[in-house]
Amino acid sequence: MSRISLTQYLVEKQREKGLIPGELRLLLEVVARACKRISYAVGKGALAGVLGEAGSENVQGESQKKLDVIANETLLEANLWGGNLAAMASEEMDHPHVIPNRYPMGEFLLLFDPLDGSSNIDVNVSIGTIFSVLRLPEGVTDPLEEHFLQAGNRQIAAGYAVYGPSTLLVLTVGDGVACFTLDRETGSWWLTEDRMSIPVQTKEYAINASNARHWHPPVKRYVDELLAGQTGPRGRDYNMRWVASMVADVHRIMIRGGIFMYPRDAREPDKPGKLRLLYEANPMSFLVEQAGGAATNGLTRIMDLQPGKLHERVAVFMGSREEVERVTSYHRG
Ligand code: AHG
Ligand code: MN
Ligand code: MN
Repeated sequence: MSRISLTQYLVEKQREKGLIPGELRLLLEVVARACKRISYAVGKGALAGVLGEAGSENVQGESQKKLDVIANETLLEANLWGGNLAAMASEEMDHPHVIPNRYPMGEFLLLFDPLDGSSNIDVNVSIGTIFSVLRLPEGVTDPLEEHFLQAGNRQIAAGYAVYGPSTLLVLTVGDGVACFTLDRETGSWWLTEDRMSIPVQTKEYAINASNARHWHPPVKRYVDELLAGQTGPRGRDYNMRWVASMVADVHRIMIRGGIFMYPRDAREPDKPGKLRLLYEANPMSFLVEQAGGAATNGLTRIMDLQPGKLHERVAVFMGSREEVERVTSYHRG
């Protein structure tokens, strides 16, 4: 069997379909290389001294793990000099990192959650990296924070890496979703799934149920109906999974369907949810939609939301279309 490498896949998208400019292809290859490096660090774990706390906090007041910092630096360094980017923004940086002027400035903006699922690092459970690519608005020569504040429907590429039993890279350039598996011995990414498609029918849901007492009525109603099982309004039994790494939970849904929820709740009424719009919800929504699923904040399609600030939070309902539509209709009703 002849395998298709990540490079070949991207070259074909560029050449045969004219879907992506060459600069974007190079950028995505650099991101993939950075994810490979992160994967190696994750894999070495305690042997490389990468577990545990960094002893610092990020802009959102969350304590940083060593791997949050290492992954952030790895992505920054890998992407600094390629000439394809204008600036980068990250969960772990207060403000965007503009490409220093000793390097050529490109036309793209890269956003990332360098290490998703930080609470799972020290317990050896799957974690990941999420990224999103935007275009620097036309005519801008001095990239600022405001230029990152673009709706998700303007993303030109998005993806995530999962550092699990295998290391995977799941990618979209707006023409379906492809999954690549890293051969850890040779360091190559190989296409292992060309057109990922989220099953419409699902029996699984993912939500942190320890917050149930804080949920708003539409979420309570939806989950109660799932819990009621066969004798309830849904007429069948459901199963629950919560890895607490969004990448791992959403990846499971990409493979076998389901719904992932991180709603806004009454714990912190001022915060519209926990997950961040620009580098968690938007890229994952792009991937989920490209795989035939849906993603809303309970009311509106996530990718149509106009971001107001870089680290903005958003409620998230994503996965199998019919389930997302149902919980969204409960909010609208
Ligand atoms: P991060 O590690 O980047 O801060 O993201 C963690 C997120 C997400 O991956 C996950 O679904 C969620 O937080 C888990 O939250 P709980 O700990 O509240 O379950
Ligand atoms: Mn995250
Ligand atoms: Mn993170």
